[in-house]
Amino acid sequence: DIKGFAFDLDGVIADSARLHSKAWHQTADTVGTTWTPELAENLKGVSRMDSLEMILKAGGHENEYTQAQKEELATAKNTQYLELVKTLTPDDVLPGMKAFLDELKANGYKMSVASASKNAPTILKQLKVMDYFEGIVDPAKLHAGKPDPEIFSLAADVLGLAPANVAGLEDSGAGIQSINAAGELSIGIGSELSEAAVRFDRTDEVSLAAIKAKLA
Ligand code: G6P
Ligand code: MG
Repeated sequence: DIKGFAFDLDGVIADSARLHSKAWHQTADTVGTTWTPELAENLKGVSRMDSLEMILKAGGHENEYTQAQKEELATAKNTQYLELVKTLTPDDVLPGMKAFLDELKANGYKMSVASASKNAPTILKQLKVMDYFEGIVDPAKLHAGKPDPEIFSLAADVLGLAPANVAGLEDSGAGIQSINAAGELSIGIGSELSEAAVRFDRTDEVSLAAIKAKLA
């Protein structure tokens, strides 16, 4: 029985995946890596430094930068990302997700956040949805990011629930793998998430009734 939900943030609650992409696209231009839709998709759910490594590798530039230079590139990306984040308002909660959070709250489900983003608290505050959640997993404390199960296991701990009683929501393939490996029910939002136990094309399709119908 599902008693709680662990939410990814970027691309699930917040319309911020496009802002990450915009900022990383600029980084790719800076280092001379061609920006492609596949690269953009593969960066979803991946930590800041790992994302930079993937961008460098995609263009064969992985050996051209010192650790200090890599940290500078990552900091520049985050500075630009935070400029874009400033424009986010409660209207940038993705379609239907506010209603879904309200539905879960009204029905006594517990909620937590399992995002790789160190900016998650800033974004949740800006979207005015912080109060829905029991807690947020701190990505700085992780030994391994998505697709490792650690983050979604910790998201169940935050809820005080066994993984079997938790459903995870994700827009990334790495995130779906993390949920599955944690032994939770995976709910994918997006077209290319074949490993998800339940899948929706868009956030505005997600509701308790729709999840139950897909599991039946
Ligand atoms: C999420 C996003 C990724 C982002 C990562 C780290 O997982 O999907 O695109 O790179 O968080 O975010 P941060 O805000 O800490 O750089
Ligand atoms: Mg995401």
